[in-house]
Formats: sequence, structure tokens, C-alpha cells
Amino acid sequence: MRNILCNIINPISAESYEYLPQHIISIDNGIITRICPFVDGDILDYEDYRDAVALPGFIDLHVHLSQYRIRGMYEPALIPWLNKYVFPEEAHSIDVDYATDLAKRFFNALSRVGTTTSIIYTSPYETACDTAFEIAQSMGIRAMIGMTMMDMNSPIDLEQTTADSLKTSIKLYEKWHGKSPLLDYIFAPRFAPTCSMPLMQEISAFALKHNAWIQTHLSENPDELQWVKELFGMESYTEVYEKAGLVTPHTIFGHSIHLSDRELGILKANEAKIAHCPDSNFFLKSGEYPLQRIQNKAIAFGLGSDVGAGTTLNMLHHAKMMNYRQSEFSVLPASALYHITLGSAKLLGMDERIGSLQAGKEADIVFLKPPEDYPLNEQSLSQMLFFGDEYTVQETIVAGNKVYSL
Ligand code: GUN
Ligand code: ZN
Repeated sequence: MRNILCNIINPISAESYEYLPQHIISIDNGIITRICPFVDGDILDYEDYRDAVALPGFIDLHVHLSQYRIRGMYEPALIPWLNKYVFPEEAHSIDVDYATDLAKRFFNALSRVGTTTSIIYTSPYETACDTAFEIAQSMGIRAMIGMTMMDMNSPIDLEQTTADSLKTSIKLYEKWHGKSPLLDYIFAPRFAPTCSMPLMQEISAFALKHNAWIQTHLSENPDELQWVKELFGMESYTEVYEKAGLVTPHTIFGHSIHLSDRELGILKANEAKIAHCPDSNFFLKSGEYPLQRIQNKAIAFGLGSDVGAGTTLNMLHHAKMMNYRQSEFSVLPASALYHITLGSAKLLGMDERIGSLQAGKEADIVFLKPPEDYPLNEQSLSQMLFFGDEYTVQETIVAGNKVYSL
């Protein structure tokens, strides 16, 4: 049982948030049992975090564990960047010691920046994915993790046969789905250029039967779009996935930038989800996310770091980039916060459990301290979104367990 005296910033919707000064958060058995205003003398046994603000732990909807070490490698286009940096680095994870060390560093780094839930790609090796699950479990991390699937047009050391890729993914799904309250498996076909139609169709058949989650990349970079056209000869990128049966309510499409109204209609009709990765889109010169059109269609989306094309795991940075990446529209602080917390929890069907600080929800919390001379108040959300790297993470909690403290 913990009672923590702190200030609170809580998302309410994409338009609003609340600021609660000097409140007590009580946590018991991993659950928030009470949030109430602090009255001196009422509760005697409390920890004093009065100089910090508590927010729901951040959610990263799209991140590549295997690319953590190659952030910032300059190459401003997707396909050359994949060939030059990503594929050679992912190949290192064939060595299980390398993959284990990387996973430990990665999960520590996530916790250090206040991320409490992440949706992860590993690399095309069973052992690398399995060790990521083992480490996540031992560290008390909340995540969905998948083995990256590639069965064509890939370097020899990363390419799997269609049958092997599918068999291994299903084996990992069966090993990890339902095993831990904090972890789940997510099928991760990399993207259409490296996945055959039969592979994608088999993933779809299994996932639909089991209500399993799927993640892939969609319409990110102009050179990728051209390649998909040459390979599949279809009218649009989204229709390739539609034909494969991959457009489902449990599919998270990374990026989704260059889409026609017809393609947005397919995503909406199938209740598919989007992981918007603005920092990565700047880095690879991918283009501008059609935020207004996606919001008008009411397609559910949240933010992803897309490390290693994204340069940092810090979701406050990506929330800022959501605003900056829009050349014509401004994004409200409430909206940016929502898309790294409650909005993403909703999209994942987890908003009864996480995404905001409320009695009855699981205690996934980040405590942040402002830089000296910056008082905490209603405006703190705006300030922390625009210079979040100057705020110090004091502590990160997942389901009541400390996964990081200063
Ligand atoms: N498309 C296919 N693979 C990748 C990847 O690893 N990163 C990004 N940003 N896009 C991709
Ligand atoms: Zn990605």
C-alpha cells in the first residue's frame, strides 16, 4: 500500500485534460484505489512528491526494439536506410546474447522516459523475440511484442520461408498469449514489399480466428509506394492488405501517410488503427500525416516513436512532433497528451485498465519534475510538451511496481 502526495495531469479526451494540485494517489496491489485532495492531517502515512506531477504512463504504439542502437543514422529515405543500417543491425540479433543485452537496455530506456506500454517489433528470429518476452516479464514491463516476419525481397540472413515465419510466429503466440497479465503477442509482418501474399493471408486467417493483434507498415515513403505497385500491381497499398485480409479491428498500421479517400474508407470500414510516427516521418522525409482527414473520418490513432527511424523513446518529444509535423494545423496540448495516453489505451481496448489516473485502474504512472523555477500549474502540460526533455522523470510505475526511479 502506498499513498503518494503529488500533482496530477490527467487526459480526459482529445480536447480536454484536468490539472489536480496536491492530491493523494493511493495504490494497493497494483491498483489505484483512491485519488483525493490532500488535507493536512487526514492521511499521515504518505510519500511527499509535492514537487512532481503524476501522469498516466506513456504508451508507444510503434517501436522497433532491434533498432535501438541505430537511431540517428543519416539516410533520408526509407528503402536505402533499411538496406544500409536496419537490416545489418537486425541481423546481429541472431546472436541470443546480443539480443538479450539489447532487450535489457531497451526496456530500461523505455522505463527511464516514462513509457509504461509499448507495441514492439523485434527481428526475424524466434530466440530474439522470445528473449524480449523473458526480459520484459522479469522486469515487469507492459508490452505487446512480435517477431518481425519477412519471406521475400530480404537479405539472406533475415529472410525466412513462408512456412517457417508463420510456424515460428504461431509458436511464440501460443507461448506468450495469455501467459502474463502485462504481455501479449502481436503478429508483425514487416510490410508488403517483404511479405508474400500467401504469408499475409495465413497471418490473417490465424489472427481473425484467435482475435490476435497484428502490426505492419502502410504507405510511409514514396519509394515504398512505387515498390508495392510494381510487386502487387494493385490500385492502392491499402488494397494489398485488404486482399490479404490484414485490415482488421486488431491491426495497427504504422505511418499511413499517402492515402486516398478510398483507402481511408477501407481503414474506417474495417475499424483498423493507425500508429502515427511524426518524428520518424521527418527523419526519413516520408511526408506529412493527413491528420485532419484521418480525424474527420474518425479513424482511431495514437503516437509511436518508431525508434530507430524515430530518434528518441521519449513520448513527450513525439507529442511535440505531432504538433510540429502539421504545417497548417495546430495540435492542442490536450490532444497531444491524449494520443500518448488514454487515446492509445482506448485503441488497444485497454482503457478500462490503463490510460488515465483513476481509482480502479492499474497503477501505470510517471512522475515528472519540472526544471527549477517552473512552478506546476494548469500550464505545465503545455510546457512539458514543448520542452519535455528538461523535465526529469523521477519514477515510473507499471501495475504498481517501480520499474524506474531516479
Ligand atoms: N517499413 C518496413 N520496415 C520498416 C522499419 O523498420 N522502419 C520504418 N520506419 N519503416 C519500415
Ligand atoms: Zn516502424
